[in-house]
Amino acid sequence: MNSSYYDKLKQTSQYHFDNTLRDQPGEWFTVHGKFQGNWQQELQQLKTDTKPLTWRNISSSLGHKTPQTQWTPEREARVQSQELDITRGGGDPEMELTDVNIEVNRYPVFSSMIESFGLELAHARVHVQRTGQVFNMHIDTYKTGFPDVPEDQLIRITVMLEDWVPGQFYCYGTHNYSHWSAGEFHSFRWKDVPHGTANASSVPRTSLIVTGIKTEKTIDILNTPYTFYKV
Ligand SMILES: [Fe+2]
Repeated sequence: MNSSYYDKLKQTSQYHFDNTLRDQPGEWFTVHGKFQGNWQQELQQLKTDTKPLTWRNISSSLGHKTPQTQWTPEREARVQSQELDITRGGGDPEMELTDVNIEVNRYPVFSSMIESFGLELAHARVHVQRTGQVFNMHIDTYKTGFPDVPEDQLIRITVMLEDWVPGQFYCYGTHNYSHWSAGEFHSFRWKDVPHGTANASSVPRTSLIVTGIKTEKTIDILNTPYTFYKV
């Protein structure tokens, strides 16, 4: 009998799972600052070279330092449990979550953003979530990308690359993050807070997602109140 991936990760999460509470920014996700610069041209190029992400192809598509190349029974079971979280809501298990581009380091302005976080073993990708794509609610695990790193040393930082428009949904717990402007970046308690995204607007929604091992430089940025950074 297959089990739900969401239910499995819920067991090790510290999130409250009480839908009557209104989560506030700073509790489960925190906006840290904003990049200032011009990356429109590079972003337009990057957007033309994406591929759709599904739960079935996610661990071979994300440019991990240690990509999963073997299709093991454990991997098949994990994918099925991830798909179950869609089918139990009546959805298509092969639905596209988002489009992705993992060749982000080809673009100097994005490399510069990534470097400024001071992460070790940073891996990065850009999500281009097109109209109709839905990344269903889930809790993260970075074991595939970082099998040997203690979880509390890992962080994911997300940079919103274009201004928010209505119809773009970015949900952390019971909080719906919205009204961001291009360059704003945030982190979240990835082991704990369920999160998901959807795009019901007529504009692709783009974000740079950087995952890696925190250093002193990273921790400084996280502990500094909202700051502007030039790239
Ligand atoms: Fe996630």
